[in-house]
Amino acid sequence: MQFSSRILGSTSVTPWASAVERARARGAIRCDLTVTNPTAVGLGVSDPSALAALSDPRSLAYEPSPQGLFEAREAVCEHYLREHNATVSPKQVWLAASTSELYAQLFMLHCDPGDEVLVPRPSYPLFDALASLTGARATRFSLRYDGAWMLDTDSIERAFSPRTRALVLVSPNNPTGSRLREAELAWVADACARRGVALLVDEVFAEFLLDPAEDAVATTAREPRCLCWTLGGLSKSAALPQMKLGWAALSGPESLVREAEARFEHVTDAFLSASAPVQHAARSLLAHGAAARAEILARARANLAFARAATPTSCGVTVLGCEGGWSAVLRVPNVRDEDEWLRALLEEDRVLVQPGYFYDFEREGFLVVSLLQREELFREGLSAIAARAERWLRE
Ligand SMILES: Cc1ncc(COP(=O)(O)O)c(C=O)c1O
Repeated sequence: MQFSSRILGSTSVTPWASAVERARARGAIRCDLTVTNPTAVGLGVSDPSALAALSDPRSLAYEPSPQGLFEAREAVCEHYLREHNATVSPKQVWLAASTSELYAQLFMLHCDPGDEVLVPRPSYPLFDALASLTGARATRFSLRYDGAWMLDTDSIERAFSPRTRALVLVSPNNPTGSRLREAELAWVADACARRGVALLVDEVFAEFLLDPAEDAVATTAREPRCLCWTLGGLSKSAALPQMKLGWAALSGPESLVREAEARFEHVTDAFLSASAPVQHAARSLLAHGAAARAEILARARANLAFARAATPTSCGVTVLGCEGGWSAVLRVPNVRDEDEWLRALLEEDRVLVQPGYFYDFEREGFLVVSLLQREELFREGLSAIAARAERWLRE
């Protein structure tokens, strides 16, 4: 049987994944600092009344709409106005079942097989798979850390090729928490406009701001300088990944926007993937999301503050600057490689973390911890990491 080479990655379970599975089955993980599902740690689940909106009788009628139902797009615009003080028109907004799906649909819109999309490193690890599934290729540019993360514009220049069709930015980025600056956006928008490259900005974490960030971009949903797709979704904005609704707001020079709209309609019309119940419920779910976001922010801020307090200089662990999002990056002493850190933390301390290499950091020595975990477990986990670092440094 022939299978597509567009499916990347191994078809067998990695040794690390099976070690984690076995540890879970034995109940041997005490602090899971990899949790990214808010509903699994008691966040955003306190108000079942939000579910009532899903039984709107209008959902019994099928109204196929390639762009998404007007009422749901209007709800997304109200969200932009409320949360980011940005006036977005329903005409700009396109709906699908998730932002992951929108990435794939946008790669289909902009790329022929073998064309390239530029993606940041370190960042969200799904880009390679999404690009490959659509026949495109993800190529990298770098984010640099110098007390704060910034775009390495030289590496973007070097990464552009005649086959580049789209450039992806994530703000706040996962896992670094770094936010796009106005000057960086101006540079990127100009570079994309000159080359006829589409800009995709993933703002799924835009409402989760942790540390102040001067001159940070609130949203690119009205970016006029290049063709720009700004992505968001209920998975983070309402802390409900299971509801399956994502959006992309299109902006840019008028003639390009018109061309993109006409073509994108062919892509979205082939899938019509956003369900009627979630679209009818979008306004209510986004409103319900305000309480969930507040709960998440309170927990993430408390956990980040603890992480900083629990890692004195003496232990050799540094919490890198973190302006937003649901995770923090720890620089750990290079006395062991990341796999050894993971194994010792799991087997001896019963703490599960992610390695930096999972997010394609350019070098070893980073662990990624979720800020969503319950405070008491997060504290235990961080204390174990700090204690282990101190012990290994002394050895
Ligand atoms: C940066 C980023 N974008 C997109 C997604 C996926 O969102 P969705 O559930 O809407 O596909 C995630 C999920 O963690 C993410 O971290």
